[in-house]
Amino acid sequence: MPTQPKPNSLEARDVQSVIHGLTNLKRHLDRGPLVMDKGEGVWVTDIHGNRYLEAMSGLWCITLGYGQERLVAACAEQMRRLPYYPLTDHRGHSPVIELAEKLIEIAPVPMARVWFSNSGSEGNDCAARMAWYYWNAMQRPERRKFLAHRQAYHGNTIATASLTGTESTHQGFGLPLPGFLHVRCPHFFRQAADGETEEQFATRLVHEVEALILKEGPETIAAFFTEPVLAAGGVIVPPATYFAKLQKILKKYDILLVVDEVVTGFGRLGDMFGTTTMNLAPDMIVCAKGLSSAYAPISALLVNNRIFEAAVRQSDQVGTFGLTLTYSGHPVSAAVAREALRIYEEQNIAARARSLEPVLLGGLGKLLDHPLVGEVRGLGLLAGVELVRDKTTRRPFERGANVGRLCADHAQRRGLIVRAIGDTITFCPPLIITEEEIAELLARFRAALDDTAKELSQASSLQI
Ligand SMILES: Cc1ncc(COP(=O)(O)O)c(C=O)c1O
Repeated sequence: MPTQPKPNSLEARDVQSVIHGLTNLKRHLDRGPLVMDKGEGVWVTDIHGNRYLEAMSGLWCITLGYGQERLVAACAEQMRRLPYYPLTDHRGHSPVIELAEKLIEIAPVPMARVWFSNSGSEGNDCAARMAWYYWNAMQRPERRKFLAHRQAYHGNTIATASLTGTESTHQGFGLPLPGFLHVRCPHFFRQAADGETEEQFATRLVHEVEALILKEGPETIAAFFTEPVLAAGGVIVPPATYFAKLQKILKKYDILLVVDEVVTGFGRLGDMFGTTTMNLAPDMIVCAKGLSSAYAPISALLVNNRIFEAAVRQSDQVGTFGLTLTYSGHPVSAAVAREALRIYEEQNIAARARSLEPVLLGGLGKLLDHPLVGEVRGLGLLAGVELVRDKTTRRPFERGANVGRLCADHAQRRGLIVRAIGDTITFCPPLIITEEEIAELLARFRAALDDTAKELSQASSLQI
């Protein structure tokens, strides 16, 4: 039986001091946040004692779940031994060197060096700067523009929010910056024309990319950024042949490929890296989140030899490699990440995600009989369920109806934390989740869907 938590009775009261992201600020002020107290495995408990199955790994990140004593121990030990040392002026420390060596060893394509920062945004930001540095070294300073997908999420610094292709990241902020260009999202369910096959859709999209490259001038494009599966865009899995066709075009015009593995890295899609799953050949890879299973902030930018050798030449000319962050490769985060990688290897975490894929995706697939469910998609232990007003025509709900939000709220009431991205409900559970816990997740989600359908049918303005 699913635990039925008490209705959440939080009020705004003592939690007004923090600005929370990914929420409507007014709504947040009116209602106050859900305040979490502790976690164990895939479960979290709020300050009132209500227990929730955390089906989003927090923000796509706590891959090993809560209560991993080995990560706590690695953190405490490093805190005592050497809590901080910079990676500047030709200095370093063992945790970061060991971590970099391990990352290069397990990288899905040959990589030469690792640059560390503290978040996925910083990792992608540094990748963008590396791309510029590279093209300057190659005497091609006019290669400044970046391409990325609409609906992709690459971060929230000024450059990475510009790479990001979601409206809420741009609107009200005067973004994207000039030179950050977006191409159609490879979202077959929403973007395909009537009667178009996945193959035709992929071909059309890549023609659009090539047309944009030619319009802008191939000699002005520095790099293309992509996630293997667009996670925060609503778990969008590109059609089978899309990336092969896309990479052909990028190669033709000598455009660098940066793969953003911030969500997909470390087993999520059933391989250690999504680069392998989607057969990508990046020049740079960015990872974060699962790198330390979110126990400490850290991100890594892996660069291949082509990028690294050019950077060496360029820095020799400039005099200094001017890309420093105080906490780059922080020893505590590096020690935690190194331990997380050990656990991934010992538990064969990618194979585990692959073996549980049919349990999660198969289980969600059974919800296709529900009147609200239009599509179920995903790979490994990453999934999205798109809610629609009309299943046969795929007609979406009106924008302001916030049906996704409503469903996520019902799920929360039933003790299940999911995320609503528009009207797509996303799932990204810790990779240590068991089959029984997946069954629990599915039962709670079906109940939340029923609650949502009931509420919608009762609302006179939203008859389904
Ligand atoms: C694919 C992807 N890239 C980059 C980022 C940014 O990472 P961070 O929030 O650590 O800056 C995220 C965050 O969700 C992400 O999903």
